[in-house]
Amino acid sequence: MIEAQGLTKHYGEVTAVDGLSFEVRPGLVTGFLGPNGSGKSTTMRMVMGLDRPSAGSVTVDGRRYGDLPWPLREVGALLEAKAIHPGRSAYNHLWCLAQTNGIPRTRVDEVLDLVGLQAVARKRVGTFSLGMGQRLGIAAALLGDPGVLLFDEPINGLDPEGIRWVRTLLRGLAAEGRTVFVSSHLMSEMALTADHLVVIGRGHLIADLSVEEFIAQSSRRFVRVRSPQAAALTSVLEQAGGAVTAEPDGALTVTGLDPAAIGEAAAASGTVLHELSPQAASLEEAFMELTHDSVEYRGDVTGGGHFAGNGPAFPGADRGPGAGPDTPATAPDQLSTTPR
Ligand SMILES: Nc1ncnc2c1ncn2[C@@H]1O[C@H](COP(=O)(O)OP(=O)(O)OP(=O)(O)O)[C@@H](O)[C@H]1O
Ligand SMILES: [Mg+2]
Repeated sequence: MIEAQGLTKHYGEVTAVDGLSFEVRPGLVTGFLGPNGSGKSTTMRMVMGLDRPSAGSVTVDGRRYGDLPWPLREVGALLEAKAIHPGRSAYNHLWCLAQTNGIPRTRVDEVLDLVGLQAVARKRVGTFSLGMGQRLGIAAALLGDPGVLLFDEPINGLDPEGIRWVRTLLRGLAAEGRTVFVSSHLMSEMALTADHLVVIGRGHLIADLSVEEFIAQSSRRFVRVRSPQAAALTSVLEQAGGAVTAEPDGALTVTGLDPAAIGEAAAASGTVLHELSPQAASLEEAFMELTHDSVEYRGDVTGGGHFAGNGPAFPGADRGPGAGPDTPATAPDQLSTTPR
């Protein structure tokens, strides 16, 4: 169990985490979601005693990280910033960590097997790819066989097989009764992996609920209806209080009425239905809707000009490769073919 109470962190002028209170319970995978810079990594660092809260507290099974006698046996973490000596082998890195917490050497081999790095265990960590580094970080988190696990963006850099492996691993750890807290920006993956969600924006708690509740509370729920009598059905549904939009493919999108009300209104008016299907928002849609006002760093794909075809993004950008402001309009190779 992880418990945060009024957790707050200031970095000078910046308030990275602002009065955050939540619980992460055992036996579940809890997804930790929030836009870039919302304070997820800072929160996880405070759980692991790597940053001191400016106010409030966070505990693991009722104790602060610094008070745990064998911290790696209580809580393991894969955090974003990896502080691994590049000249050390994967095996030695894990063996050094194990010795600090009285963990036997056999466990090093076990976790190397578990993450699939046994074949490269003696290679220098500095030569590892991003995905191999992530696997080593996961091995370190699992080393002390802890009951509480934190993973900050664990699937970054993993191939599809690796992503599926992490999903299975996290679900398995939770099924064993462990507390699993994982951040990720990949919503489709979170929808498959997490049971519960803690969502933050600008350091504040926005939501703390199950994945189903999170999606259900999105206003993007609607019912898709098809009928050979679409015009008649539209007026029937509007009279019943629904809002109806005709889609290009002939379907009708209905909000404000549930499927039962739509079916009954259609039957009462003798209108034929070919489809009546409730549509839930995806986790990504629900997340975008909920965090819209909390996004600090937003890319522009609409009005910037260079994607929308409104002209060049910078002087010379429309003149082809290599055509900077100082480049002559005629390329040198063309000059050399000009007869003299
Ligand atoms: N060591 C630090 N010194 C100063 N500011 C920091 C430090 N660490 C984080 N911050 C600031 O705190 C805020 C929260 O950052 P944090 O890394 O916790 O966000 P995040 O939710 O993990 O973002 P991302 O999704 O991009 O990983 C940001 O404004 C960041 O610039
Ligand atoms: Mg982060």
